[in-house]
Amino acid sequence: MNDESKSSTPQTPDAEPTVSRSTVPIWIIVLTLVLLFLGMVYFDHHGGWFNSQVYGPYASAAELELYQPKSGEAAMLARGKAHYDQVCGLCHGLDGLGKPGQAPPLAGSEWVDTKGLQRFVSIPLAGVSGQLAVKGQTWSLSMPAMGAAMSDADLADVLTYIHSAWGNKQGPVTADEVKAIRAKLGAHPQPFSSETLKALPE
Ligand code: HEC
Repeated sequence: MNDESKSSTPQTPDAEPTVSRSTVPIWIIVLTLVLLFLGMVYFDHHGGWFNSQVYGPYASAAELELYQPKSGEAAMLARGKAHYDQVCGLCHGLDGLGKPGQAPPLAGSEWVDTKGLQRFVSIPLAGVSGQLAVKGQTWSLSMPAMGAAMSDADLADVLTYIHSAWGNKQGPVTADEVKAIRAKLGAHPQPFSSETLKALPE
């Protein structure tokens, strides 16, 4: 056989194998893409996007959340904590311990950890300014009416959370209780002072 016949005639099955350059067969590329795609679909449905809290049949944290109970005190506390962290926690701290020069503690405060609701609920609805004694320390700052723009239910959730967090030992505050105290304060209440707060029933 000469060179010409080698390159131009098709090889028979029992011919010597020859070394030649060939491209990757198209089916391998297609198979790889299909496997990658199936892997992505599988991960989408089962992976939970690497969130260790997502388990079992749930595909995402959002889906898992959908199955959480929506009523009861645990849900109220969870919503309250979320609002607290966003609104009140900036000043009073996520741990409720307050921040020097910024805001007094809510943990163990006599304005918070007491049976009566009038003062505790009125403070976020109207704000408070001037000298205020909290746990033996006098603060002289001012707090805007941080709760005035919140709905009765949202503020009730926040106050319920504060009432039982960080060692505080008081029960839930209901939306109806917030509503009643809001109505008593009127539309644009003046910020409280220590004296006007103490003039309220506890
Ligand atoms: C901008 C900062 C700021 C934010 C936000 C804030 N507070 Fe205050 N809060 C203060 C300051 C400052 C005082 C003390 C005011 C003074 O010295 O007269 C105070 C006092 C209080 C008090 C009485 C004193 C005590 O520590 O027990 C309560 C109760 C309270 N805040 C609740 C809340 C709640 C509930 C929220 C969220 C809805 C909130 N605060 C958001 C700054 C803030």
